Amino acid sequence: MSSDLVRFTIAMPQDLLEKLDERAARRGIRKNRSEAIRDLVRDALVEDSCADPDQETCGTLTMVYNHHASDLTKRLDDVQHDHCDEIISTMHIHLDAHNCLEIIAMRGSVAQVKEIADALLGLKGVKHGSLTTTTTGEAL
Ligand code: NI
Repeated sequence: MSSDLVRFTIAMPQDLLEKLDERAARRGIRKNRSEAIRDLVRDALVEDSCADPDQETCGTLTMVYNHHASDLTKRLDDVQHDHCDEIISTMHIHLDAHNCLEIIAMRGSVAQVKEIADALLGLKGVKHGSLTTTTTGEAL
């Protein structure tokens, strides 16, 4: 992708522009409208590429579960050991006497990462979880 900057004019409703400026301000004083719009375009392109099952991606799965649920920690471990090529790191936090928060970092195709996430989130005793996928954006 060329890094040459091209100037062009954008027209948008005033209230939408104000919301863009507010968003840019929340992200830091260095952000200006051009950077804010570039960020939005990159976000959209990454989101589009993560819709492709063959796209190489990095995924983070965040899930909460009750570790007292029968056999759950063993079943979670079994799934993770079955996918040790894709799972590159895990973080486990003991939230309270019963609940655990686990964050699992993965890399692989979108299809592989989603399959692993579904296998883990589908286990009985997992209360909540969500997968976020992203890319480096370098091929965009
Ligand atoms: Ni725990």
